[in-house]
Amino acid sequence: MSYNFPVTRTTHPKQKPDESALGFAKYFTDHMFVMDYDEGQGWHDGRVVPYEPLQIDPASCVLHYAQMMFEGMKAYRTPDNKIQLFRPDMNVKRMRKTFERMCMPYLPDDLLVEAVSALIKVDADWVPHAQGTSLYIRPFVFGDEVSFSVLPAKHYRFLIILSPTGSYYAANYNGLSTTRIYVQDKYIRAAQGGTGYAKVGGNYGGGMRASQDAMKYNCKDVLWLDAAEHKYVEEIGTSNAFFRINDEVYTASLESGTILPGITRDSVITLLKKWGIKVNEGKLAIDDVIAASKDGSLQEVFASGTAAVISPIGCLNYNGEDFTIADGNVGPVAQKLYDTLYGIQTGKVEDDMGWTVPIA
Ligand code: COI
Repeated sequence: MSYNFPVTRTTHPKQKPDESALGFAKYFTDHMFVMDYDEGQGWHDGRVVPYEPLQIDPASCVLHYAQMMFEGMKAYRTPDNKIQLFRPDMNVKRMRKTFERMCMPYLPDDLLVEAVSALIKVDADWVPHAQGTSLYIRPFVFGDEVSFSVLPAKHYRFLIILSPTGSYYAANYNGLSTTRIYVQDKYIRAAQGGTGYAKVGGNYGGGMRASQDAMKYNCKDVLWLDAAEHKYVEEIGTSNAFFRINDEVYTASLESGTILPGITRDSVITLLKKWGIKVNEGKLAIDDVIAASKDGSLQEVFASGTAAVISPIGCLNYNGEDFTIADGNVGPVAQKLYDTLYGIQTGKVEDDMGWTVPIA
């Protein structure tokens, strides 16, 4: 379908932030995309408008029962000054699963890229140029019916907002640096049958107690263990987790439905296999990770995600004890993955996987 979204331009463009100190999602661009859904009418009135606060009724159901979902994507500037997305078809696929889980109306499959492209064309100057940066894209949908019934809403809003961004954890733009992660064995993120595989705010809100506790140990985030036994590694607060032990890579499988199906996760697995590195998707006990750390066979741990990109982990804190990985240095596989992925995303490494989608 071809969309023609009307554009209302801001009369007060903001000053662009310094690209060398963007941090993660601290600044937002001049415009946003908005679309409404009404039962019986479907999705309608998609439009690009100036970025501004929303009007929302205090009795809007999302504020009480959290019927919402979001996605995370990025747009990248290439050396020839074009702008491209990375695997947006995977966001569409994941959105469909989240909509189904949250009883929310599906967006037509082609709408996401069309809406993102329409918005980024208006805010193209906001796509940063500096090494290690990108334009973070946050599409989200929420139920906006004035109702306290615990029922799916009849009215929804779909918005997209944009933020020029650096890396999520590491503050180093010219290269990767490692982070400390706290192994969380008290609280859990997701149980089987829950919403772990869906991209919903509640998964993150419910994790904040644990990540705040992690900070007491000077850690940036948590490594979650499984809900049933608190035994097997699952994912990191904002990203998927990978462990390189004896030259093989381990990561939690999606089968349990408790892990977020990360697009970077999928890309990492594809690249590792292409490079001839064995990837084991399945259960890995935290005790085996600690044993590997003690006997020297734990070579690397890293996180993967849209916001996190590839974030190497230099230390795991478990039961109050520090387990340093590779002397706290960035490992070669994490480095190669970062260089390749970010290289493909920014058009500096050939995209022989067909992962990038030019939009402007
Ligand atoms: C992303 O990587 O896009 C995410 O949604 C993680 C976010 C919670 C920081």
